[in-house]
Amino acid sequence: MKINDASLEQMAVGPNQYPKTDLKEIAFAGRSNVGKSSFINALTQRKKLAYTSSKPGKTRTINFYRIDNCFRLVDLPGYGYAKVSKAMRDDWAQMIEGYLANRSNIIEIILLVDSRIEPTSQDREMYQWIVDNGFSGIVIATKADKLSRNQLNRQLKKIHTSLGCPEEQDILPFSTEDQDLIQETGEVLEDLLAF
Ligand code: GTP
Ligand code: MG
Repeated sequence: MKINDASLEQMAVGPNQYPKTDLKEIAFAGRSNVGKSSFINALTQRKKLAYTSSKPGKTRTINFYRIDNCFRLVDLPGYGYAKVSKAMRDDWAQMIEGYLANRSNIIEIILLVDSRIEPTSQDREMYQWIVDNGFSGIVIATKADKLSRNQLNRQLKKIHTSLGCPEEQDILPFSTEDQDLIQETGEVLEDLLAF
């Protein structure tokens, strides 16, 4: 995927702040710290487009990145972050659901999971919700550089089973450190946008 222009178009906490539905959107969901914002930076080859942190809970708004005036990548706050109050977690959940459930121009919601960690019950719920809502259920396993080939393959199988993915659907390994994986993932997104 060749990207010339990538910029943060809008940060939103509610629908009145969303940009127009004029462009297709691909949204990225997953636990806090799994690497959603880093994924967007890797894909766009911009180191500091999306803010990232080694501590969970960095992204707290819905961030719309406009790519080549052609489509948007949408970075969501992560779920499962324990160190905030229940009220705040509820606010985040509502913010994420409010976007995902009511936005006509979302063409895909991609679930990111950490390749080293078994999916949590929230991951499984998210995956099921994505599939139940008619999306294809693409799952990306991040931080693949932290595992050996063998370990990675074992983990991909575990994640596949734990989420209950259909046989024909592969979990896609990803690492911000691996240009080949970045390119392969970019091609998957390109295919989605071609329809
Ligand atoms: P929230 O905004 O809290 O939901 O987190 P996030 O999912 O956006 O995670 P973020 O991109 O901020 O990354 C979290 C941490 O993981 C950062 O320290 C990143 O540098 C690191 N990270 C992300 N992707 C990779 C990867 O592929 N490999 C390695 N080694 N580290 C990664
Ligand atoms: Mg983030």
